[in-house]
Amino acid sequence: NNVPLKEKSIVLIGFMGVGKTTIGQAIAKKLQREFIDIDEKIEKEYHMPTSDIFKRYGEKTFRKKEKDMIEHFSMQKFKVISVGGGAFLQKEIRDICLAECIVVFLDLTWDSWKERIALLIDSRPVLQGKSIDEIKELYYSRQPIYKENHLKIQTDDLDTEEAADAIIDSLK
Ligand code: S3P
Repeated sequence: NNVPLKEKSIVLIGFMGVGKTTIGQAIAKKLQREFIDIDEKIEKEYHMPTSDIFKRYGEKTFRKKEKDMIEHFSMQKFKVISVGGGAFLQKEIRDICLAECIVVFLDLTWDSWKERIALLIDSRPVLQGKSIDEIKELYYSRQPIYKENHLKIQTDDLDTEEAADAIIDSLK
């Protein structure tokens, strides 16, 4: 499309709990843009946390809603959008985000990520009931999808502000 780069919305992708929401909020504040958290929009619509949406309506319903939401918001300019860690598994979502937005992959090594697991497990339905080995497998199986065709920021040694600055700098 012909939207100038500096007007395009920024979409943050990456595995659960890498900091898409916190870093996204920091970028939005620095650039004076509106921040959109897709999971939060879905939770508001259903009046319940994603784990309950998965339980009550199933993952398929969640994925459909996730696609509709992203299709809607990715068409808007000047936003910072954080999408759930599973969103890019859907080709339609990848295609629309790559066509309309600037996509940034927040990378965190497995060793750093696994330190956060206790904080994440209760709120992330796709982690529930899985062993650490199964979660590790899920983590690695998704990396190629995140790595395709976009900017990558290694966040292991960066705090929120530093990560936000690194992303903003890489877009200049
Ligand atoms: C999911 C990640 C979650 C949320 C849902 C499914 C996934 O978002 O969309 O629980 O499949 O990886 P976060 O990446 O923000 O945790």
